[in-house]
Amino acid sequence: MASELNLFPLGVATGAAHCNRTVEQADLKRNILAGDHTWLWGRRRMGKTSLIEQVTKDLAQSRRNVTTATIDLLVVHDAEDFAARLRAAVERLSAQFVPRNRKSGGKLAEAFSTLKPQFSFSAMGLAVKLAAPAQVVQGVAELLQGLDRAAALHSRRALVVLDEFQQLSQLQSGTQRSLEGAVRHAVERAQNVTYIFAGSQRHLLASMFEDEDRPLYRLCRKMTLERIGGADYRDFLRQASARWPSPITNAAIDLILAVTARHPYYVNALCARLWGGKRPPSPAAVKAAWVRIVDEDKRLAANRLLRLPPSQRALLKAIALAAGGVRHPASLEFLAPLRLPTSTGNRAKEALEQEDFIRQEDDGHWTLVDPVMADYLREIVPK
Ligand SMILES: Nc1ncnc2c1ncn2[C@@H]1O[C@H](COP(=O)(O)OP(=O)(O)OP(=O)(O)O)[C@@H](O)[C@H]1O
Ligand SMILES: [Mg+2]
Repeated sequence: MASELNLFPLGVATGAAHCNRTVEQADLKRNILAGDHTWLWGRRRMGKTSLIEQVTKDLAQSRRNVTTATIDLLVVHDAEDFAARLRAAVERLSAQFVPRNRKSGGKLAEAFSTLKPQFSFSAMGLAVKLAAPAQVVQGVAELLQGLDRAAALHSRRALVVLDEFQQLSQLQSGTQRSLEGAVRHAVERAQNVTYIFAGSQRHLLASMFEDEDRPLYRLCRKMTLERIGGADYRDFLRQASARWPSPITNAAIDLILAVTARHPYYVNALCARLWGGKRPPSPAAVKAAWVRIVDEDKRLAANRLLRLPPSQRALLKAIALAAGGVRHPASLEFLAPLRLPTSTGNRAKEALEQEDFIRQEDDGHWTLVDPVMADYLREIVPK
């Protein structure tokens, strides 16, 4: 059984710590097995990696012929670095296609013939080494096509997850478009490899996949990861409170979900503190723990705020202060007290939305995405 702290990890949540996402899990599984490539957008810390890991773990258990490699582009700084990490991932993946007791890389030699593969054998199994190609961009396409051939020859399905994929369009080297082209070339032809492109910067990702003049246009299914539903979280928290002799009250659960705005990272940060106690937390204990979290994290929020132009900061502050959010944040009525002309206010609203500072709730109201930032702004503004 998972310990109560493991039920609320600050890192990837899988297994007993994974709440709901049943529809998304089923969709993603189907796409992976059908070879339907997917681009997955979700705001920062909304649960993209947890969803992908949960699905790949389940697939590894139920269908042993799906093998996964993940490359996080957040730590990649240029085309050469991308190619090197991709090569390492393809080497690891393709080695896993070969049964443990096999002492030859025969089919891999055929699949990767242009990349001069070298094989070594140890107690750990087979290790594959592929040559770095002279041409980086062309090498990326060759690597991915070689992987597809290798998977086909072994009757396997490979899953390549490119996390924070929008970073590819931000690389230093000036070869971004041709890299996107190389990826497209391989993705279009893939028979035995499925690709997941995940990321949090919506406008960058959307322009990579939805602009007609970009190489990756219309290549993938789109999937959006929203917050976990209130009813699902309530069930999950109630079940998690089975460890106490008396259940947690609805009032305490509602307060947890309200202060965190159902942001999965903050739900976990808060519950990890509350679930350590001998009794279920009261609403007062929830509030006290949340105040401490805001206090600890507000420096980060302040740093992000400092980088905003004054008009955006003013608008954000006003939205944070409006209880229940704001229906029309770019209206004359809302902007006049802020001394912002409507054109400036409109631009500020669009920029805040694009950078995911604000979001529109199902009821139409605009609210802040980050609950700590919202409470920090409420705290520093004189009432
Ligand atoms: N389905 C879930 N159930 C419970 N907690 C979750 C779930 N998904 C994510 N979380 C929690 O939310 C936080 C963020 O999760 P995760 O790292 O998967 O998100 P992400 O979108 O990949 O984040 P990043 O933008 O930093 O890459 C973590 O604390 C994780 O434990
Ligand atoms: Mg992630």
